Amino acid sequence: MQKNYKITTAVFPVAGLGTRFLPATKAQPKEMLPVVDKPLIQYAVEEAYAAGVRHMVFVTGRNKRAIEDHFDLAYELEFELQATQKQALLDLVRSIQPADMHCSYVRQPRSLGLGHAVLCAEHLIGAQPFAVLLADDLMRGEPSGPGVLTQMADIFVHTGASLLAVQTVPDDQVHRYGIVVGQPAVNPIEADTGELAQSRLLTLSHIVEKPRASDTPARTAVAGRYVLTPAIFHHLRHLPPGAQGEIQLTDGIAALMRAEPVQAYRYRGKRYDCGSKLGFLEASVELALEHPEVGAPFAAFLKTQQLL
Ligand code: G1P
Repeated sequence: MQKNYKITTAVFPVAGLGTRFLPATKAQPKEMLPVVDKPLIQYAVEEAYAAGVRHMVFVTGRNKRAIEDHFDLAYELEFELQATQKQALLDLVRSIQPADMHCSYVRQPRSLGLGHAVLCAEHLIGAQPFAVLLADDLMRGEPSGPGVLTQMADIFVHTGASLLAVQTVPDDQVHRYGIVVGQPAVNPIEADTGELAQSRLLTLSHIVEKPRASDTPARTAVAGRYVLTPAIFHHLRHLPPGAQGEIQLTDGIAALMRAEPVQAYRYRGKRYDCGSKLGFLEASVELALEHPEVGAPFAAFLKTQQLL
């Protein structure tokens, strides 16, 4: 395993149909749905950028062009904003793609699963470790603490082992997730991150995609953040279809685990399941309350409506 490796490439599987948000997603990507004023995909890209990632690889499909446009130069818009001297808006629009960030796009022609989506990006990644971020999961670090992918990248530098973000879920949600079993890790992690090794890091012995709660005592679920070694591609290539008839990333990780250590990390922070309507609403309300422009008036509104 390669240590001291800094993750610079991330994969964003964005080819899904977004059926849970129909009709909103009939003609637009679910990843472009805004939480307050920013599309979901931008939260994930910003999290990756903050973690040191500079090459963003989007695995897209039909109807997803808006994502490419969002991370491209908007020439007419910038021209207009400049001509009308709307500098703050111009800066905002330009900040979406910093000069040192590069985007690549590859199509996933059929919905064959998350594992297949990651495999579609192989030729853009090659033999380097990389991150996978599922934009449906809006992840936030603790207030003024590092983002979730930054926390994971910091651990990966020390361990070189594939790493999955995990959280505990209640019984009635087990069937929605990849579920893991592991033992406390004994990595020799240096003092600054030592606390993580003691309490937050597990070495995995088992992982299964969307089991029934009655079939497993485990309640530790994979959230949509992964750091993977390139060996995963070999295992994904040889997988038969798994749960829901799809090539599952979870099954590829199970195979990887038999060849090299894979770890799970109980991240610090909060996850909003923006793939569900309820999670999306929770994210919208909480982020709106923190928003510099609308936060205070929105809180006042909720109070007058006796909603708070
Ligand atoms: C995917 C993964 C699952 C993981 C989940 C996290 O499922 O297959 O293992 O726990 O993301 O959000 P999906 O939500 O795409 O069905």
